[in-house]
Amino acid sequence: MANLMEKIVSLAKRRGFIFPSSEIYGGFGSCYDFGPLGVEMKNNIKRTWWDEMIKEHNDIVGLDAGILMSPKVWKASGHLTAGFADELVECKKCHRRFRLDEIEENLPSHHSAKGGTGSDGCPECEGELTKPRKFNLMMKTFVGPVEDEAAKTYLRAETCQGIYLNFKNILQTMRLKIPFGVAQIGKAFRNEITPKDFIYRTREFEQMEMQWFCQPKTAPKFFDYWKKERINWYLNLGIKKANLRVKEVSKKELPHYAKRAVDIEYKFPFGSPRFRVEAGWKEIEGIHNRGDWDLSNHAKHSGEDLRYEGPASAPQSGASAGKYFPHIIETSAGADRSLFAFLSDAYQEVKGGRTKTTKAAKEIEVLLKLHKSLAPIKVAILPLVKNKPKLVKKAKEVYQALKPHFMTQYDEIGSIGRRYRRQDEIGTLFCLTVDFDSLEKDDLTVRDRDTMKQERIKIKELISFLKEKLNE
Ligand code: GAP
Repeated sequence: MANLMEKIVSLAKRRGFIFPSSEIYGGFGSCYDFGPLGVEMKNNIKRTWWDEMIKEHNDIVGLDAGILMSPKVWKASGHLTAGFADELVECKKCHRRFRLDEIEENLPSHHSAKGGTGSDGCPECEGELTKPRKFNLMMKTFVGPVEDEAAKTYLRAETCQGIYLNFKNILQTMRLKIPFGVAQIGKAFRNEITPKDFIYRTREFEQMEMQWFCQPKTAPKFFDYWKKERINWYLNLGIKKANLRVKEVSKKELPHYAKRAVDIEYKFPFGSPRFRVEAGWKEIEGIHNRGDWDLSNHAKHSGEDLRYEGPASAPQSGASAGKYFPHIIETSAGADRSLFAFLSDAYQEVKGGRTKTTKAAKEIEVLLKLHKSLAPIKVAILPLVKNKPKLVKKAKEVYQALKPHFMTQYDEIGSIGRRYRRQDEIGTLFCLTVDFDSLEKDDLTVRDRDTMKQERIKIKELISFLKEKLNE
């Protein structure tokens, strides 16, 4: 669809999903706030992920570790060294900055960005580029009143480090046996050189990470298992198969901690306008085999024994015996990026309108066909007209009765057709209209977002009817 990116950004702003941060001060470099509908949708994504991990799988427990940790953590994890740095090049003429990998990925083969090799380097003005410089992505801060070296630490760049630090605590308190997993959702921060593409690449974002601790020799098997599980999660939540793919990360591109990695990629509605690429496959989640990188490095730097004690004599099943560092399979998803993918995938335009009123027939109707678990509003209550006090009173009674059970909105402004369209545009699953018959028969019409079919339901049966429809 032409200009889908602009349409998503505009809908997100217009309908209260996502606002630019600090807007009254002119915005603040690629930072965004989630509005009333955005926060509902993001919470739905996070809840669905959490339930999937904790309730649908055995042996996964949760954690909520702090954003601030000892700076020693980031030394041990390798994030303060070259491993967690992007290569930056700058145009000597227009002074725009680019990530080297981005330029190399997108430029035709005769271009070469490496080392400022001539006048065709800059994708904007063809100016000469500087030599690549390493730029560490850790976001620095100071703890306490004195801003000196001793007070310096970092905002976490990935949530999983808190899980490794608590490996022993969790093992002991929950009396777990390998294999088991620890799931966590939370904010992470990276001082990205080129934050861009709406909420795709930002400096503050939210991750949903699960670390699966297992015996070293079972790691390849679990890697494949989790890869499938995570692809299915997106498909089950309605992402179109054609817009999802898996990319094996080449040895050269592997993160510093990984022995093997695949990216789950979504076909986003943006490419690189400056590179004239229209739509782009981009990572929404990484599946990583981190081996014993994290536990062994934290053991080395902290002096703690972070090994797991296997059975004294290995049974015939081949379980590892004695003390060893478990290997870790990680699933690392972005809550913001997946929200962006779900929004893009759900966005539809119907030319001529679905409602078939004469006015609508001339326009384009927008439908946000979000999965029922993700839609921010499940039910809208609409009195047929707002100038009949009896209708309004009844509609408000229904609203109050449903509110504790479902995310519900009351709307009486505008024609009923316009209100249906407003609800379709934000993905509301059911519109309930209170009309004159409702006063006599104590029922109302329930309109289904996707089929637009309407059926009359008795008000006293509404809650169980909707719960059944929503599988609650
Ligand atoms: N613990 C492993 C890890 O952090 P990653 O591939 O660097 O792996 C995992 O990040 C996920 O976090 C990405 O797939 C993406 O969804 C999200 N993410 C990473 N950097 C981001 C950024 N700057 N803005 C938004 N989301 C980001």
